[in-house]
Amino acid sequence: MSDKIFELIKQEEQRQKVGLEMIPSENYVSKNVLKALGSILTDKYSEGYPGARHYGGNEIIDQIETEAQRLACQLFGVKSAIVQPYSGSPANLAVDLGLVEPGGVIMGLSLSSGGHLTHGAKASFTSKIFQAIQYEVGEDGKINLEEVTKLAQQHQPKLIWVGLTAYPYTLDFAGFAKIAQSVGAYLVADISHISGLVAAKVLPSPVQYVDVITTTTHKTLRGPRGAMILITQKGLDKDPQIVEKLEKGVFPGLQGGPHDNVTAAIAIALQEASQPQFKEYAEQILKNAQVLAKQLETKTENHLLLLDLSMYGFGLGYQAQIALELAGITVNRNTIPHDPASAYYPSGIRLGTPALTSRGMKEEEMVKIASWIKEVLEMLKGFDLPQNQPERKDFIKEFRSQMKENLRLKEIKKEVEQFAAQFPLPGVTDE
Ligand SMILES: Cc1ncc(COP(=O)(O)O)c(C=O)c1O
Repeated sequence: MSDKIFELIKQEEQRQKVGLEMIPSENYVSKNVLKALGSILTDKYSEGYPGARHYGGNEIIDQIETEAQRLACQLFGVKSAIVQPYSGSPANLAVDLGLVEPGGVIMGLSLSSGGHLTHGAKASFTSKIFQAIQYEVGEDGKINLEEVTKLAQQHQPKLIWVGLTAYPYTLDFAGFAKIAQSVGAYLVADISHISGLVAAKVLPSPVQYVDVITTTTHKTLRGPRGAMILITQKGLDKDPQIVEKLEKGVFPGLQGGPHDNVTAAIAIALQEASQPQFKEYAEQILKNAQVLAKQLETKTENHLLLLDLSMYGFGLGYQAQIALELAGITVNRNTIPHDPASAYYPSGIRLGTPALTSRGMKEEEMVKIASWIKEVLEMLKGFDLPQNQPERKDFIKEFRSQMKENLRLKEIKKEVEQFAAQFPLPGVTDE
């Protein structure tokens, strides 16, 4: 018996219960999703796809995977679904590997503009295996399709990514489709962050405009940690071999045996996301984000906010993350477009409403939470990041110890704990 690990799991459950999770890529799954994840399906090997496995004993696994695929196709209105990717990053790499030869040109939104690492960032293998061209947002923080067109004409990508990790605006899938068409590129939408909102039809779907969709299953979709690759009719029309290419990209290209317990949990999450209550949930995510944005004097068109903290001082993202965490509010530090500070010590924070909304919080609660956030952010004044880089590490250490002693922060933490405890965690309490 690993008492230590079970004790730590209990502690993490308690941290989640009394804290406010505002990282926009996090969420709480249902009890049924947890049940499937913790089931004996984890014991099975099933390399291959339904009806074509490399191991025996897969009749039941075949039915589970086929059901997950059916539910995915139905929910998103696509023709085919691969539900085996271990997570979002390998799903994206499998798409690149399936559709583009190594050394070929891919294009995506840069990390600093709100794209994901796997869309061709320098630190990601996607830019080492492929020639990655990155487009940036303009001064207004939005993607400028004229710039994307110019880059596409110049570099003739084989594949264009359209997706977001820290971009609080609606994506113009139709505009991207024109660009992809003009250069003959595959267009792939990575809807990892917004797939729950797309499934619930509260944000526009890319289905009619793109060839392929990738999504993690653990963000707004509220499933287990995993991912899916969805193939549209448009994709099949463009390339009749596309499904086989993508399947091969996943297995045997990149992965071995699928995680069948995760596949089952994905199927359950997809079923849950097709219920009317899920649409209400998705609508509430957006309403909550609007209230939060108004209170924090910023704008959003989806579930996430990118807060530029420059009005409080220089390079305050890390300090804000630390101070808010001490207050029981979890966010992540994030670069803002054209960040004058640095990627590690950025000028902003990213926060969102999916997890809080899963706990039943509504507009009134957002106002309350925003007032705590504003109060904490005010405390950052005077704690500007040192311009001299070697001083930064010690500065942050000193900042953390000072904040740990801050009496008002301790009080806020107590207030947050009492408040959060009134909103149960779905997977721990529901039936
Ligand atoms: C848009 C997008 N794509 C892909 C990923 C990668 O997912 P994972 O962390 O499961 O590898 C993320 C995760 O944050 C994401 O936001």
